[in-house]
Amino acid sequence: MTEPLLAIENLYVTLIDDRGKSKTILQGVSFEIYPNEVMGLVGESGSGKSMTALALMGLLPHRAQIHSGRIWFGGQNLLALPKREFSALRGSQIAMIFQNPRAALNPLMRVGNQVARVVRLHQGLGKRAAYGKGLDLLQQAGITDTSIRARAYPHQLSGGMAQRVLIAMMLACQPRLLIADEPTTGLDVTIQAQIFELIKAIQVELGTTLLLITHDLGVVSEVCQRVAVMQAGKIQEVAAVADLFAHPQHPYTQHLMSTLLRVDRPANYRE
Ligand SMILES: Nc1ncnc2c1ncn2[C@@H]1O[C@H](COP(=O)(O)OP(=O)(O)O)[C@@H](O)[C@H]1O
Ligand SMILES: [Mg+2]
Repeated sequence: MTEPLLAIENLYVTLIDDRGKSKTILQGVSFEIYPNEVMGLVGESGSGKSMTALALMGLLPHRAQIHSGRIWFGGQNLLALPKREFSALRGSQIAMIFQNPRAALNPLMRVGNQVARVVRLHQGLGKRAAYGKGLDLLQQAGITDTSIRARAYPHQLSGGMAQRVLIAMMLACQPRLLIADEPTTGLDVTIQAQIFELIKAIQVELGTTLLLITHDLGVVSEVCQRVAVMQAGKIQEVAAVADLFAHPQHPYTQHLMSTLLRVDRPANYRE
């Protein structure tokens, strides 16, 4: 049997709110992801999907605290690693793309230089070679006229373009595990489809393992092999996508399907 690349075991995370009250936001989360797999994580807003991802990245907000649990990655428990080793892993082996790509970019730096910086860090190239490699990666991420676009600042790019820049940075890292947290929320529908196609193509080409967080069950059915369903800080069900759609076991999954699977109305249609 193949060993999982990632195994989250019984993860409890508490958060202190504005009034100093403590709330348990992850209540014993457990699931596994196997090498080369595309795993979906779905659930209503506020169910704890992003907090799970941030815990995996070692990027939980200060007010959040891991109470107990283990996160196994490549045979090591990340939560037992010294901080410095954990941050070395982040970026080199585990990378994440976010819902708001512009916020993840430095607003004061041309995007070509930002990509080049990641290339230098991870591939140890000189300045000029790294810049050239960065342009290649931008092109691989679906950006045309890269030498012009690379000179843009983040605010001069559309949301879809900014997400492609982050994807180029991720390509520079060549992570074993990519976490994509609602990577297309807020983009228009055509661009959403293009970004998902790009992520999927990269996943296949590089053999990256992907944890895809989304509220869009249509995307899950097209892209993912298995899916974990989350509600109120707990994983309610983990299943192969085909099984989940054919026979949702948990009443919450059935409810989620009835509320989220609205093919007639894309999620961002109201905006
Ligand atoms: N910065 C924050 N301050 C206080 N509470 C937060 C913060 N971020 C998230 N939470 C709370 O943590 C819980 C899980 O949130 P989150 O992981 O962001 O959900 P999801 O990504 O599934 O929408 C929610 O109850 C949310 O209200
Ligand atoms: Mg979220």
